[in-house]
Amino acid sequence: MSIYILGIESSCDDTSAAVLKDQQILSNIIANQSIHQSFGGVVPELASRAHQQNIIPVVEIALREAKIRKNQLNAIAFTRGPGLLGSLLVGTSFAKSFAMGLGIPIIEVNHLRAHILSHFVKEKEGQKMPSFPFLCLTVSGGHTQIVKVSSPSKMEILGTTIDDAAGEAFDKAAKIMGLPYPGGPQIDKLAAKGDPLRFSFPEPKIQGLNYSFSGLKTSFLYFIRDNLINDQNFIEKNKSDLAASIQYTIIKVLLSKLKRASRESGIKEIAIAGGVSANSGLRKSLMETASKEKWNVYIPSFQFTTDNAAMIAIAGYFKYLDKDFATQDITPYAKSKL
Ligand code: KG4
Ligand code: ZN
Repeated sequence: MSIYILGIESSCDDTSAAVLKDQQILSNIIANQSIHQSFGGVVPELASRAHQQNIIPVVEIALREAKIRKNQLNAIAFTRGPGLLGSLLVGTSFAKSFAMGLGIPIIEVNHLRAHILSHFVKEKEGQKMPSFPFLCLTVSGGHTQIVKVSSPSKMEILGTTIDDAAGEAFDKAAKIMGLPYPGGPQIDKLAAKGDPLRFSFPEPKIQGLNYSFSGLKTSFLYFIRDNLINDQNFIEKNKSDLAASIQYTIIKVLLSKLKRASRESGIKEIAIAGGVSANSGLRKSLMETASKEKWNVYIPSFQFTTDNAAMIAIAGYFKYLDKDFATQDITPYAKSKL
């Protein structure tokens, strides 16, 4: 018999609900919160309020699109953390009460593990999925990690950022250039028209498989500040090249450690996940590296790169198979490594 899981994601500024039939996606609805754009970043209080407004309509649409009735659901999976506490509370409380009303179990999901497991959401016949063990580079607004994934429940962090995340580096570089939030997609678009070798920025020298992006951000800031002294139109005149050059450096740093992780572990099954995995430069460079290093690479489709509930539902599905359910007294957490 098939298992129907409703996934709920509310960790940051996207309210999302999705339905899976086993691993097969039936719906994945995402309500973005445009309200944060004018503030140049996510305002937690506004995010929780918007989740509260969006959650019921988003779930109704997800069920309708999936063409299933709520009493067909076997369990409800929700993001427990990491994320903004006020936002997480909305999804958690909703999941608990809806599940209680339906008399079905709840499943708590770690957002970072869910990004990785999004590779197992089935969209079409014959879809290639990673085989275990594989390495996943998770690159989002809050995290940058190289994870060794031995099974859906066994994951180990091999490397992580010691300061800013890769997404943060994109967002901060964009902010310095006066681009709107979130800056990653803006940089991506501009970079496509620019010269990545026009400007060079120092790559961080961090031991092992860890990352650091705060020094890069600072050198980008000083470089721009110094050039604005001589030419106040410096950014405007060079914006595509600036975007291409900073993007090139971030990608180079990301891939050099990933290459090292693969060589050290001997694992050639390589996946990427998280918001920054939508970046077209990263996708292209990863494919190039893959052909040189003889990797099998797995790149998520765009709807699974940024925050979405289908990834929460698939993580929930694997826990459902293990009968790993949560109790009604569960509370969200703001921080967790994995
Ligand atoms: O995974 P995600 O949606 O949320 C977190 O869990 O953080 O990631 C959001 C991050 C933001 O920093 C955003 O700028 C970045 O992903 N991002 C991109 C692109 N699309 C989203 N960065 C670079 N290029 C993109 N195309
Ligand atoms: Zn995320």
